[in-house]
Amino acid sequence: MCGIVGYIGWQEAAPVLLKGLKRLEYRGYDSAGIALLDGTLSVIKQKGSVGDLEKDTEVRCAAISGATVGIGHTRWATHGEPSDCNAHPHLNAAGDLALIHNGIIENYSSLKQELLSEGYIFLSETDSEVLVHLIDRVWKRDPSLDLEAVVRSALWHVEGAYGLCVISSREPDRIVVARKGSPLVIGIGVDEYFIASDAAPIVEHTKKVVYLSDGELAVVKRDGYSVKSIENIEQEKLVTELDFSLEKIEKGGFFHFMLKEIFEQPAVMHDVMRGRVRLEEGRVHLGGIHDYLDRLKRAKRIVICACGTSWHAALIGEYLIEEFARISVEVDYASEFRYRNPIVGVDDVVIVISQSGETADTLAALRTAKEKGALVMGICNVVGSTIARETLCGMYTHAGPEIGVASTKAFCAQVVMLYMLALALSRGRTLSNDEIALNLKELASVPEKAARILELDSQIKSIAERFKDAKNFLYLGRGYNFPVALEGALKLKEISYIHAEGYPAAEMKHGPIALIDEDMPVIIIATRDNTYSKILSNIEEVRSRKGRVIAIANEGDKEVCRMAEHVIYIPHASGPITPLLAVIPLQLLAYHIATLRGCNVDRPRNLAKSVTVE
Ligand code: G6P
Repeated sequence: MCGIVGYIGWQEAAPVLLKGLKRLEYRGYDSAGIALLDGTLSVIKQKGSVGDLEKDTEVRCAAISGATVGIGHTRWATHGEPSDCNAHPHLNAAGDLALIHNGIIENYSSLKQELLSEGYIFLSETDSEVLVHLIDRVWKRDPSLDLEAVVRSALWHVEGAYGLCVISSREPDRIVVARKGSPLVIGIGVDEYFIASDAAPIVEHTKKVVYLSDGELAVVKRDGYSVKSIENIEQEKLVTELDFSLEKIEKGGFFHFMLKEIFEQPAVMHDVMRGRVRLEEGRVHLGGIHDYLDRLKRAKRIVICACGTSWHAALIGEYLIEEFARISVEVDYASEFRYRNPIVGVDDVVIVISQSGETADTLAALRTAKEKGALVMGICNVVGSTIARETLCGMYTHAGPEIGVASTKAFCAQVVMLYMLALALSRGRTLSNDEIALNLKELASVPEKAARILELDSQIKSIAERFKDAKNFLYLGRGYNFPVALEGALKLKEISYIHAEGYPAAEMKHGPIALIDEDMPVIIIATRDNTYSKILSNIEEVRSRKGRVIAIANEGDKEVCRMAEHVIYIPHASGPITPLLAVIPLQLLAYHIATLRGCNVDRPRNLAKSVTVE
């Protein structure tokens, strides 16, 4: 949720931190701040964007430009509204200790009462501020301890999730960082180290990184770092090479990251399939799950857990796996799964899907499934993420960094992945090799078809112009297109703040039809599959109530053209492939409506890219 950066080395820290915060702004963007250490501690923080902070910092930084140690934070409010005082870093009363925190301190209220009764004064409404006073208290009680020891000792009192960085003018040569539940990465440079909540701010400085695990605490100095467990036991850490470049996290000529990411989809589809779809052999090779494939095929049931857009991909996965591999699939919101004492056991497979690999609920669902003995497999985009590391086996979607808060290319990569998985599970069981080869051929043709849809951008923009002022939207689809309707509605509400609902088209009669009048745009996905004639009837039902139909249909479909007010044509494809194509016009429609309404599509209000708290 919040973004964290830290720097210690030979460069001026403020510009490194501010640049890093900008790269992390997609995680949280209601306020930002930095603390710099140059003999004394200076904190600059305020409500607003990193850009606002930067302007302010330019003036104020003149006095502290020599600082080569610092920490920075971009906030997504959980406790206390976005404001100057709730922004991080937080300081102790003496002003010699500064802390930034990502996560939620669950017992903050009782800790705060305790500290208040001891005379501590709180300047913010955040849960995070208790941490800095707790550390201060430990240090006051035993001044002989070093910074590492006081942070460790304070953390014993804390329940909840944290990724945190602490600096102190009493030990100006180090940054102490700790992780439980909120990710932290250390970037290794030459005589300099970078700390961040994900790799985006690090990649332009170094590709060598170390991922901290839960329950670890590190001391980072100019000449090295050490990682220990919270119990003070030395940890061996693997240095990993980042596999993405700077250009992947820049806009590359597009107005927004979201638009860039929508247009990247044909290339992303190729990347997901590369080395996995073996057309000449007519089969799929999924290295990450190869050793477990037989066990996966024997699963009595597959449960897929995810949140948000990944949950929509999971729904498509359900249709795909049941159709191709004939294994029963259940899809659960990770947040529901974790708390309802689910019935899963050793015969089940639980697949968790997450772009970020850090979503708190999905991670908790994974751990619940593991505890109950299920084989847990992951589909993640971020390499080295917590979910990727905690699953027994899994596959990376290789969509590259997704910066736009509304997920687009990650969704398409997840669906391609699930398509390949469904075919891999059907081999030798439910589909003949010829059938698999045929389906793979069709999958391989999708990137070119997707590229053709992107050429409709200006048509879609003109439709957006007509409907940008609508107050509500309804999205309808059947079969494979039902989750696409959900995803289309989610995209629109996330970035344009227009109320939108996705429904299985047949369910319209059981409620939403009451909403339809001449002011209601209804997006209907009406591609030629086994429910085509039914969806035509649904279009009629909407029309006869004066609803404004915008249809997604297959090229050359005259029937739909006759019935709908606007038609966006997509290339022909079989039912299982259709979501990969039908979702693209819906992403573009949401994008254009939102930009025409003046919304910040890359950073929609109240949302965060990576939801690392419950
Ligand atoms: C947030 C994001 C969504 C995303 C969801 C799940 O709500 O804004 O775009 O779909 O989290 O994230 P994950 O990283 O687990 O796929």
